[in-house]
Amino acid sequence: MGNEVEVAAISHNSQLKNSKVLSVTICEMKRRHLRSVIRIENKVFPRPWTVGLFMSELSMTTGRAYFVAKANSKIVGYCGMIFSCGQAHITNVAVDPEWQRQHIASRLMIQLVRSAITQGISDMTLEVRMSNRSAQSLYYRFGFAPGGVRKNYYPETNEDALIMWARGIDTHNYRLRVEANQARITGSTIWADSTNNV
Ligand SMILES: CC(C)(COP(=O)(O)OP(=O)(O)OC[C@H]1O[C@@H](n2cnc3c(N)ncnc32)[C@H](O)[C@@H]1OP(=O)(O)O)[C@@H](O)C(=O)NCCC(=O)NCCS
Repeated sequence: MGNEVEVAAISHNSQLKNSKVLSVTICEMKRRHLRSVIRIENKVFPRPWTVGLFMSELSMTTGRAYFVAKANSKIVGYCGMIFSCGQAHITNVAVDPEWQRQHIASRLMIQLVRSAITQGISDMTLEVRMSNRSAQSLYYRFGFAPGGVRKNYYPETNEDALIMWARGIDTHNYRLRVEANQARITGSTIWADSTNNV
């Protein structure tokens, strides 16, 4: 009996994690999400942000947008950006290792882009570790191209940062790129702005 319950639970979980049936909700990050956010942050980054840093970002009433992705009632990823004067700087994108390669980050990137466009932003930038090829692949998909190097930006690992830019995110061509990325996502998504839900 114990075994049957266990097998059923595993099958239920793998079904929920199968991206064909995966249902992901993107919503604004709140303070109550920070315990889960920090759990992921500590898993994936050598120099994780502290809860205080996230709280300080969330307390800003303008110029910030932070989102979490929920699947199976669990926070599985998050992202954020700082914006002003028509430009946005992506500060975080992270997905729980157990939930990676299921287009969770792609969903988060789409949310960031949509939010940026509604804020009148046309250009987005970010820094990424030179060695972080998986994140760079994600950003290439979203039209980010290398724009420079920040030497020793990550002193804890003595590593340079690649600066990447996506320009003209408010153009028709960029919209087509986002739509192409959205079309690759299997499963369903409920977006934070409650529009274009698929
Ligand atoms: C980078 C990261 C956010 C990607 O999250 P994810 O939800 O797995 O990404 P997605 O499933 O949306 O991937 C979208 C595309 O990015 C590329 N990609 C993502 N992870 C990849 C990997 N490990 N290897 C190669 N390409 C990868 C692929 O092109 C992928 O599309 P595909 O799976 O259809 O081929 C995740 O690996 C992560 O959290 N890493 C640790 C934290 C981090 O490095 N954050 C970025 C800091 S700048």
